[in-house]
Amino acid sequence: MSLTHLAVIMDGNGRWAKKRGLPRIEGHRRGAQKAEQIIEWCAELGIKYVTLYTFSTENWRRPPEEVNFLFALLRQMLYEKFNRMMEQNVRIRFCGTMEQLPQEVVQVCRDFEEKTKSNERIQAILAFNYGGRREIIDAINNGIKNGLRTFNEDDLRKFLYLPDLPDPDLVIRTSGEMRISNFLLWQIAYSELYFTETLWPDFSKEDLLKAIEDFEKRQRRFGGL
Ligand code: IPE
Ligand code: IPE
Ligand code: MG
Repeated sequence: MSLTHLAVIMDGNGRWAKKRGLPRIEGHRRGAQKAEQIIEWCAELGIKYVTLYTFSTENWRRPPEEVNFLFALLRQMLYEKFNRMMEQNVRIRFCGTMEQLPQEVVQVCRDFEEKTKSNERIQAILAFNYGGRREIIDAINNGIKNGLRTFNEDDLRKFLYLPDLPDPDLVIRTSGEMRISNFLLWQIAYSELYFTETLWPDFSKEDLLKAIEDFEKRQRRFGGL
């Protein structure tokens, strides 16, 4: 069965750090390294799209120091990994709302998107300041601004943040939590879900292969027989 689009809820950075007596931000640092690795693993496996849940609209509820650290970490990672992403032919895109974000963060994101836009081996989508409900509301409001008064599914889809992406085939969530936490609500209507106890910084290539093997055994019916 073909896996075109993988989406990942990268959870468990804080617990990973806590287990080792380290500050939470250390977990985020290790988690960010892992995010880069999974993009490369997916590219090697021929997966065309990988969406990584990086910061949710609800994550603003965390202490400001942690939120600011996460923004700084994103910028640092983007600067550091730019050459590598170009070499690896990775197109980076963002999905979420840029409202509320510090201007310097928005700038780096836009810049990175622009510079990598011709890369075509894989698209890595960072769901950053992303909320599924917010995306649907934004889509409706944008549709209305564009003159729509009623919507069918195709109409709404056109106003999602990245309307050209296929829906995820598989969603992986690490750290043992079995919930969606406002991730891609519209797009995962028929995605296969895979949960693992592994904390995100510990997630290995073997874990990825195991999830894919599990996915390949599933029978997707989409409501049919
Ligand atoms: C996921 O790890 C990363 C983000 C949500 C930014 P957490 O920070 O949620 O880690 P836990 O769930 O506290 O272990
Ligand atoms: C989901 O993880 C968001 C990201 C991985 C970015 P959370 O840690 O924020 O989710 P909850 O709060 O446990 O549902
Ligand atoms: Mg968490």
